[in-house]
Amino acid sequence: MTDFEKELEIKAEEVCKLIEPFLPEEEGKQKRVIESMRYSFLSGGKRLRPMFMKESFEFLGGKDITIIAPFMAAIEMIHTYSLIHDDLPAMDDDDYRRGRLTNHKMFDEATAILAGDGLLNYAFETVAKSMSEEKDPIVLQRKAKAFDILSKKAGIYGMIGGQMADIEGEKNKDADLETLLFIHENKTAALIEASLTIGAVMAGASDEDVTKMEKTASNVGIAFQIQDDILDIIGDAAVLGKSIGSDVKNEKVTYVTLKGIEESVKEVKRLSDEANALLREMSDEETFLNKLINYLITRDK
Ligand code: IPE
Ligand code: IPE
Ligand code: MG
Ligand code: MG
Ligand code: MG
Repeated sequence: MTDFEKELEIKAEEVCKLIEPFLPEEEGKQKRVIESMRYSFLSGGKRLRPMFMKESFEFLGGKDITIIAPFMAAIEMIHTYSLIHDDLPAMDDDDYRRGRLTNHKMFDEATAILAGDGLLNYAFETVAKSMSEEKDPIVLQRKAKAFDILSKKAGIYGMIGGQMADIEGEKNKDADLETLLFIHENKTAALIEASLTIGAVMAGASDEDVTKMEKTASNVGIAFQIQDDILDIIGDAAVLGKSIGSDVKNEKVTYVTLKGIEESVKEVKRLSDEANALLREMSDEETFLNKLINYLITRDK
């Protein structure tokens, strides 16, 4: 394990400690749906989105982590719901996720649909509660802005819109690069944009820096999805913790089908370098955020 990987493991543990207490407890008549929500949430994903949010907050001078923790939990709940639904038979129809059976394989389809809905709604319950309890008017205003970003980036003008385009793009032999970029920008980059921009907003960053963070995240998000598409072909299912060959099975349009692996690898590097250059416009210090972006270029999971 490299020094960076050790640092990453510690950071991920810190993130887990901050977000897990926000989950509802398995009790009452709702026990089954909560059990199913917790099964997928606690399956040990990389926690990149809440990590990006925290790092962006700290990169731009944010100090009090308690004001951002509910948003960190919320983005991971929304991401986890998107994975549960993405794996359903009606969508990608996959059997493994985060090293375990997918939610509908472990429970059943109806429970998986409702657990996804439950996580999406609970994300907003979590954020709304933290707003209603907020006493500081400046922080409350930032939270309102963050809520606005979170809701849009998760919705039809963000992740859901991208997932729909991804499904519509299946078996489309004429799909072009523009369509593919729309899919990647929305299904994947949107939640990463929410993470980095909410971190910036909660730190009280200038509009200019929030916009730079959004552009940085757009690059990181598109690169992340291209790498995901590469790993769907050449990755190791045991390392990834999820099924491979999913895109070929579903005849998806991906960067790899349009450009080939070699070009795709180059594009991941180019987009990541551009993201780092944008960060350097805000600070010339080499931070964990820079290192994380560089690490993702060659990630194998
Ligand atoms: C998987 O995201 C879905 C994509 C957007 C490619 P991650 O690779 O971040 O999944 P986890 O959270 O680590 O399981
Ligand atoms: C999924 O893209 C993006 C979202 C879940 C929003 P993929 O379908 O490629 O993700 P994996 O490969 O199943 O994780
Ligand atoms: Mg999918
Ligand atoms: Mg999938
Ligand atoms: Mg994939």
